[in-house]
Amino acid sequence: MEKNKPRRDNLFRFTLDILIFIGFLLSLDPRLTGIPIHEWLTMAGIAAIILHLLLDWNWIVGLTKKFFRKVAFKARLNYVLNWLFFIDGIVVMISGILVSEVILPLLGIQPVGGHTWKTIHSFSADISLFILALHTALHWDWIVTVVRRYLLQPLRHPKTSKAESVGQGEVQA
Ligand code: HEM
Ligand code: HEM
Repeated sequence: MEKNKPRRDNLFRFTLDILIFIGFLLSLDPRLTGIPIHEWLTMAGIAAIILHLLLDWNWIVGLTKKFFRKVAFKARLNYVLNWLFFIDGIVVMISGILVSEVILPLLGIQPVGGHTWKTIHSFSADISLFILALHTALHWDWIVTVVRRYLLQPLRHPKTSKAESVGQGEVQA
């Protein structure tokens, strides 16, 4: 990830990350939302994740190029974990589509269904929760910095932070 990203960029990322986070938690409990919302919400989530990846595209390309050279351990760990997240996410989505009860029938396609695909869907969803916990932990410093600087500080010292935001406006990732 690039260091010293402009203020607006960080706020945009933060808002997007929070929305993805809430959507992801909701998708882990289809009984709460019902299957139709579960299916549409997770399909819409694809666009959000693509945006999430595009915002860090330079980081992805940069690390792919230098992965086997000298790279900090944490960045390497992030990189491997992000790939695991990506692969597991594909398994969740494909198995979800194969057991779809709403979207596929709506398109006139008969879903494959079956116990095996449901088990794969459920299991890969459990794994994704585990990976998300690690992914969040690895970005904890960034999250705390953004919350402190752009949410708590303006609430505590509204005037100072307004003046600060003009000149400073940057946060370390
Ligand atoms: C499911 C919910 C997810 C949440 C809440 C989340 C949250 C975050 C946060 C807070 C950051 C640091 C700030 C930023 O750059 O936005 C980040 C970075 C990143 N995330 Fe996610 N993320 C999620 C899913 C994913 C998935 C599925 C992938 C991979 C397919 C992914 C790949 C990345 C990459 C490549 C970065 C930047 C590089 C890095 O430092 O690891 N994220 N994510
Ligand atoms: C972020 C992506 C997704 C996550 C985290 C997720 C998670 C889950 C979870 C935890 C369950 C409950 C499994 C159980 O009761 O054992 C479930 C069920 C289900 N999901 Fe997903 N899902 C995702 C994407 C999708 C997609 C894209 C579709 C279809 C378009 C889909 C269709 C279904 C259906 C039909 C069920 C009910 C299956 C059954 O009767 O056991 N899911 N999902």
